[in-house]
Amino acid sequence: MSDADDLKRQVGEAAAALVENGMVVGIGTGSTANHVIDSLGERVRQGLDFVGIPTSRRSEERARALGIRIVGFDTHDRIDLTIDGADEIARGTLHLVKGLGGALLREKIVAAASRRMVVIADDSKLVDHLGSHVPVPVEVSGFGWESTARQLGGLGARVTPRQDRNGSLFVTDGGNMILDCAFAPIADPARLEAEIAAIVGVFESGLFVGRAALALVAGRDGVVRIEPE
Ligand code: A5P
Repeated sequence: MSDADDLKRQVGEAAAALVENGMVVGIGTGSTANHVIDSLGERVRQGLDFVGIPTSRRSEERARALGIRIVGFDTHDRIDLTIDGADEIARGTLHLVKGLGGALLREKIVAAASRRMVVIADDSKLVDHLGSHVPVPVEVSGFGWESTARQLGGLGARVTPRQDRNGSLFVTDGGNMILDCAFAPIADPARLEAEIAAIVGVFESGLFVGRAALALVAGRDGVVRIEPE
């Protein structure tokens, strides 16, 4: 296991320890969230009883394979705790960029339905300003995406349609496209999130403003808890 993967494992296990019997848990997506799923699978084998609402098909498959009970919004209207990764975490506010893994729309629906969202990452994801290292992924309708891309460009983004490994346009679990929008470091994430959301053709952006109540961040000195200031 690489050092980076070991940090993800540490933080994944720390987050999985927050799950209690009877909870409805939002299950995140990505390499860090995979460690949460694996750790929860182990806890289920030891008798933990909870249900999960996954943020992607691949997280659902991984969770089911480990014996985690999966439910949906048809039967459950509240989520007690969501644990998910992030691509950038802003120090101080805990605003996030998410979606490099392509699951941002489901991730935001699950986060919005959650009483508490805990974000987990290694300390390479902490930034002073969102947009410093990664683009903001935006999930858009495939129909008319070129027009939507031009409008996102009008907000100052350099827009790149995401491709899959074969060079075809990437398709999300919801059958949509992702436009990766590189902004200079973002001065006002809340305003940008609202401006992006106002563009017709946009389903959601990967800006998660004011959603994380706690960050668990793994670094050389172990796992640190960070709350929004
Ligand atoms: C998935 O769409 C993303 O939001 C992930 O949560 C994010 O990309 C973090 O992934 P890693 O844990 O693999 O870095």
